[in-house]
Amino acid sequence: MLRCALLLCVLALARARPNIVLIIADDLGWNDVGFHGLNQIPTPNIDALALSGLVLQNHYVQPICTPSRSALMTGKYPIHTGMQHGVIYGMEPRGLPLTEKILPQYLKELGYRTHLVGKWHLGSYKKEYLPKHRGFDSHTGFVTGKIDMFDHTNAEKGSWGFDFRHDSELVAHELFGQYATDVFTNEAVRLIRGHNKTEPLFLMVAHSAVHTGNPWEPIRAPDKDIEKFAYIKDPRRQKFAGVLWKMDESVGKVVQALQANGLLENSIILFTTDNGGAAAGFNDNAASNYPLKGVKNTLWEGGVRGASALWSPLLARRGRVATQTLHISDWLPTLYAAAGGNTSLFENIDGFDQWEALSHDVKSSRTSIVHNIDDVWGSAAITVDQWKVVKGTNYNGAWDYWYGPDGREETYQVDQVLKSPAGQAITQLGLMPDTDKILQIREEATLKCNTSIVPITCKPLVAPCLFNIEEDPCEKRNLAEQEPEILQRLLDELSKANSTAVPPNNKQLDLRGDPKYWGRVYFNFGDFEMNNPSNINL
Ligand SMILES: *[C@@H]1O[C@H](CO)[C@@H](O)[C@H](O)[C@H]1NC(C)=O
Ligand SMILES: *[C@@H]1O[C@H](CO)[C@@H](O)[C@H](O)[C@H]1NC(C)=O
Ligand SMILES: *[C@@H]1O[C@H](CO)[C@@H](O)[C@H](O)[C@H]1NC(C)=O
Ligand SMILES: *[C@@H]1O[C@H](CO)[C@@H](O)[C@H](O)[C@H]1NC(C)=O
Repeated sequence: MLRCALLLCVLALARARPNIVLIIADDLGWNDVGFHGLNQIPTPNIDALALSGLVLQNHYVQPICTPSRSALMTGKYPIHTGMQHGVIYGMEPRGLPLTEKILPQYLKELGYRTHLVGKWHLGSYKKEYLPKHRGFDSHTGFVTGKIDMFDHTNAEKGSWGFDFRHDSELVAHELFGQYATDVFTNEAVRLIRGHNKTEPLFLMVAHSAVHTGNPWEPIRAPDKDIEKFAYIKDPRRQKFAGVLWKMDESVGKVVQALQANGLLENSIILFTTDNGGAAAGFNDNAASNYPLKGVKNTLWEGGVRGASALWSPLLARRGRVATQTLHISDWLPTLYAAAGGNTSLFENIDGFDQWEALSHDVKSSRTSIVHNIDDVWGSAAITVDQWKVVKGTNYNGAWDYWYGPDGREETYQVDQVLKSPAGQAITQLGLMPDTDKILQIREEATLKCNTSIVPITCKPLVAPCLFNIEEDPCEKRNLAEQEPEILQRLLDELSKANSTAVPPNNKQLDLRGDPKYWGRVYFNFGDFEMNNPSNINL
């Protein structure tokens, strides 16, 4: 009798929908994770997930925040939702169109509890654009593009205000001064501990790290965490290391909490950056996309090839470098499928269900990626099979180079990975590969420029450039002249994609949204008659 009951119990558990945890880093570069070969700054918890799960070697994101998050939430390219140009500002009367149904809404229909911790950045000028009104049961965090890590204010476009809330509505004044990554970690752990296991959990932890805050002190971490990295000579990179270290620690605490509460064994964890790293002083920051070309907000590989990993015991073949071509819009159908949903309900999305391809290591059904088409800035790029065309560029070409650091001087501490909280939790489940295997996967995931190619200059403002990304991931040899037919085929694909684009929905800033009228808080100003906004009592 008892056995039978146990068997039923096991069967019931086997059918339970998996918990889904998305951990989104902000502006993290390709070379800011140990699993890509970085030795300079240890990321043992992130590495533990990546090296025991899947290193997503060909996962492409959008080059900048709002568009990337819009694609993650909708399964659509930003050119199809009007989100293709730049980010949303706190004073901008704009949000991800309300006609879009998004990931947490779909997951709620499958019975999920849904929580957002951290950054939103998909619209906040009216309540109906805020996470609580778009499928999240709770939200603790901020709604604009960036915050100071301690005081939680954002200075942008001539305004300055506090941006930290509970449940999209209540201003979290009491969290002033607490390090943002710690606030997000504590909240994520609290939600995991309090989670009712009869329901599946969807938890999105969208960090403010490693984005910079305000220009007067852009990179901030607790002193003791910055001091750990005294051996890093570049002071900006040293502070960056403190910020990154805190985010890695957070990943460890979240994984550990999932394990301690019996959720980990039935979880899917996606760790990804939202876009390429802000390197070499871009945005006052010190990320690294080495050896890739470009930075955040460029369409070079350094701007769009994401530092990303997927971890789950539900993946049939784990502990490897996954080379499947993926785009951030794929996660909506992929996670929905992994949750047992029927993906045939998705119409007019650009994402592909990649769950089977990733789980069993078979070919991805995706053969092309529209990286973006931005006619305001005059840049566009598309990849088809191994070929990539880049037409035009941003910043008049000022960020079309290669930046460091390579961060290879120190040695990699694989024991740190095993001893990290995430490493231990994974080991407890019996899912950690041995040391040799870990090092082998890491070696495979460490990109090297192809030294046998002869560079050919690319001037994308003059003529479109063509690259063979498989042979030349560093985009050093422009094959536009050698391969005119391939170039034409890709330009045709690009114009086909362009013919399906909708106009960008950017709006003029509305100065009535200035936090100075709203108790110094970035606020859903669009919900109020604004004749005398300073009388609104918050
Ligand atoms: C958990 O959820 C189930 C189903 O909704 C409910 O019956 C149960 O009372 C909940 N348990 C707790 C401790 O809230
Ligand atoms: C998914 O939905 C489609 C369309 O509603 C239906 O034809 C199909 O049978 C469903 N598949 C499964 C596995 O339920
Ligand atoms: C490097 O480039 C050469 C010349 O194009 C090519 O033959 C070779 O396959 C490339 N190596 C890799 C690892 O892609
Ligand atoms: C896309 O189409 C628009 C409108 O037809 C045109 O102005 C623009 O130049 C095209 N962009 C690209 C990258 O082809």
